[in-house]
Amino acid sequence: MASLLSFPSRGAMNVTTVPTTPIDGQKPGTSGLRKKTKTFMEAPYLHNFVQSVFDALVAENVPVKGSTLVVSGDGRFYNKTAIQIIIKMAAAAGVERVWCGTEGLLSTPATSAVIRTRSRGLKGMAPIGGFILSASHNPGGIDEDFGIKYNGENGGPAPEKVTNLIYTKTTTISEYKICNDLPDVDLSTPGSYSLGTPDTPFSVQVFPNTEDHVGLLRQVFDFGAIKALIQRKDFKFVYDSMNGVQGPYAKALFIGEFGASPDSLMNCEPKEDFGGHASPSHGHADPNLTHAVELVAKMGLNKLGLPVETKTEPPDFGAAADGDADRNMIMGNRFFCSPSDSLAVIVANATCIPYYKNGLKGCARSMPTSCALDLVAKKLGIPCFEVPTGWKFFGNLMDSGTAMFPDTPVYTPFICGEESFGTGGDHVREKDGMWAVLAWLQIIAAKNPDPSQPLVGVADIVKAHWAEYGRNYYARYDYEGVEKDGADKMMAAMVEAQPSLIGTTHGGMKIAKADMFAYDDSIDKTVSKNQGIRFIFEDGSRFVFRLSGTGVAGATVRMYLEKYAAPTEDLTLHAFDVVKPIADIALSISKLTEFTGRTEPTVIT
Ligand code: G6P
Ligand code: ZN
Repeated sequence: MASLLSFPSRGAMNVTTVPTTPIDGQKPGTSGLRKKTKTFMEAPYLHNFVQSVFDALVAENVPVKGSTLVVSGDGRFYNKTAIQIIIKMAAAAGVERVWCGTEGLLSTPATSAVIRTRSRGLKGMAPIGGFILSASHNPGGIDEDFGIKYNGENGGPAPEKVTNLIYTKTTTISEYKICNDLPDVDLSTPGSYSLGTPDTPFSVQVFPNTEDHVGLLRQVFDFGAIKALIQRKDFKFVYDSMNGVQGPYAKALFIGEFGASPDSLMNCEPKEDFGGHASPSHGHADPNLTHAVELVAKMGLNKLGLPVETKTEPPDFGAAADGDADRNMIMGNRFFCSPSDSLAVIVANATCIPYYKNGLKGCARSMPTSCALDLVAKKLGIPCFEVPTGWKFFGNLMDSGTAMFPDTPVYTPFICGEESFGTGGDHVREKDGMWAVLAWLQIIAAKNPDPSQPLVGVADIVKAHWAEYGRNYYARYDYEGVEKDGADKMMAAMVEAQPSLIGTTHGGMKIAKADMFAYDDSIDKTVSKNQGIRFIFEDGSRFVFRLSGTGVAGATVRMYLEKYAAPTEDLTLHAFDVVKPIADIALSISKLTEFTGRTEPTVIT
């Protein structure tokens, strides 16, 4: 522990009440409030939102006074300034302790780990929740995006009931409270800074940003087996932190724990703009075939996922994280593993991981994620839940414990995932990019018990999986920056047309089911409507339309395409080719070009 700063010594803290007026558009989306950085920098934008969170918590009877609160972010531009503002507002709201990772950095899963586990043994100090300052995979910088999200005491994103209340508070706010006299806190080194008074105790505690998350992962995985794999002379891997917050975690784990060579890590210095336009990803710290340009090239693929010539043989394993390190992309030598397949493979092999050695109690996927998971769940005889897009929906399932599994104690090993490059377990309440990578490494380690035998790699494992379960060929087309009005009209027209399209045949395929997905959360008794338009063909192939909930400008139309091939069919084709006929049907039914003017997707993943 470093310095101990005391300020001031007498009386109560000086709280300033600042009059304010509501600001339009502070409604949290799929994952918190995201806007242009400059919008957040213009006071009182951030202040209004933070005060509204505190007001919502108080209205929900959360004991803010005397509480512990976690505040950190992914290191993007404005992260450190925002943290100092939130610290001063937390003090004014009566919070007693603010916990921050060093440099103000905590990955999103690490924040969840801190909220859930850091208070172990510290009686009465369990955090009420935390602020995560991140716009995830969106570019960062003064001209790019910033975001803020509140996670509750379970370490997961606040449920819709709470985010709706926060939004309501932003529309009626008339003042915010702040302790402007407090000095800025030095976030660079661990230490405890006592800033309160005897009447109003308040401290900021800065701790090593990787400590809790690495500690938790150590309980889930067999680090020894992963280390032995990494140490194998014939196993080469590369990990790309994309200049996001994952860098310190990648160093702590791969170099610190597994003794890997530093040159197996790429872009592991967190940057405020994730490398910006000068970087190969153009500052898009988003692990997919389009943006993880350097990694994809290193692994011997082009952005369509097709093999290309390389000067040196690609590594056996490659992975990347997004800005806040909750996403992951998994690759093998000249092989791209789709997120939906990755999820299915991890669940099918979960017992290789010590934490899941007795099997899973359940699994879940978001609706647009491929049905590959369902096939595995069926074989394992475990429940498979289908929820709307957004990690918060998984949290309830994980937390429900005995409600969901009456015959099981609270321990509910559970794995979830999404097509949007998110996978994770119930060790935290966020998706966890590092967890997914360690899960894969653990599985590869388990498939290679004899180091004298040739390595069984990612492609071998996935192909064996397809041979057993069949392959859910899958792709997603994104149309970014579309005019919102056109996108809304397209969706409305499709909903209207759906009943009359059931039973019709397109390109030789008959539509068996067509609906707007709604989710009835049996745990918190909320119904989430308008969660995506589904068209399901007789053979289980489908296409789905959704409007993204994470963009900051205009609308992004997502079109998800899936075609199932049984083990007896050709499993070696390129996914983009196989789903193309379904894309043509989807484009014709949606009249996407007519409504949006777009003829080509911006990104295909
Ligand atoms: C975030 C959420 C995910 C979601 C993804 C895509 O990463 O945490 O749960 O799948 O955004 O959301 P979108 O609404 O843009 O499709
Ligand atoms: Zn993210």
